[in-house]
Amino acid sequence: MSKGIILSGMRPTGKLHIGHLSVLENWVRLQSEYECNFAIVDWHALTTSFDDTSLIKENVWNMALDWLAVGIDPEKSTIFIQSRILEHAELHLLFSMFTPLSWLERVPTYKDQIQQLGMQGKDISTYGFLGYPLLQAADILVYRANAVPVGEDQLPHLELCREIARRFNFLYQTNLFPEPQALLAKIAWLPGVDGRKMSKSYHNEIAIDASEEEIAAKVRQMVTDPQRIHKTDPGHPEVCTVHIYQKLYNTGGIEEITESCRSGAIGCVACKKQLAAKINEALMPIREKRKGLAAKPQLVKEILAAGEECARKKARETMQLVREAMGVQ
Ligand code: TRP
Ligand code: SF4
Repeated sequence: MSKGIILSGMRPTGKLHIGHLSVLENWVRLQSEYECNFAIVDWHALTTSFDDTSLIKENVWNMALDWLAVGIDPEKSTIFIQSRILEHAELHLLFSMFTPLSWLERVPTYKDQIQQLGMQGKDISTYGFLGYPLLQAADILVYRANAVPVGEDQLPHLELCREIARRFNFLYQTNLFPEPQALLAKIAWLPGVDGRKMSKSYHNEIAIDASEEEIAAKVRQMVTDPQRIHKTDPGHPEVCTVHIYQKLYNTGGIEEITESCRSGAIGCVACKKQLAAKINEALMPIREKRKGLAAKPQLVKEILAAGEECARKKARETMQLVREAMGVQ
């Protein structure tokens, strides 16, 4: 029944927000079609926060709670923390022996990111950051995954991963590694409440575990049609951030809202109230489940320990074959 093996990962760089929800909901769907492995990639978080590691453990923990709360199911999927599986590091090292530097230097995000973070005063021209996509290839190939659900921004990394698999298979005359394909899902894009990219650093995000009051407050801050001064002015939903959210969270009422907005029959305050109620309705079960899990840390630790054991078993099997193919001890 399984269409194959999936590996995907997220960097634990902060609390998840509702912009991440559609990515996770896609993972939840994939769980019944594939053998899924989901990694909290804390070593990848180190590439940018090696100088302040104080929040990484907390972020890993929050990510585990968020994942479980949205329905990543430990009965179906292997959920684990990357740094617990040393085989990722071993495979990364072995890959590094035959990876031309030029392959890593030409990954399009590489120079961009160094420059971008450089402007913020952060120097990430490190060995580790150069090797970021190679470590990602090891994450994927150590489970011999053939499918990777990712966003478009990750396509160059997947391309490199396939090149590494091909080069390994060619050099050591084997077909140990598949060439993993990206699974690009239609991911609904959500702006932050101020209309810019949703990001914790802009304080324009709605956290996955936001309370009813927090949701209401964030929705009140949302930018609307700037041309609407009086509530009876005809509105332009196509330029309104609230409307983007309505389309996603109020699928049943969207036509009526759009009409009432255009005709000036509904004011923005009322429209936002409706939206806040809809978002709250959607987040309530996640919030409740998350609360329940947070109250049982022992249970969550056991889930992660079981995931770790399962991941390690698979990774060890691959590494045994890798060593044999390469002729190393
Ligand atoms: N680079 C990915 C991102 O920023 C995170 C990641 C690390 C990953 N290892 C992975 C994604 C393996 C998919 C598969 O989103
Ligand atoms: Fe936006 Fe709603 Fe106001 Fe229309 S009524 S401008 S959709 S907030």
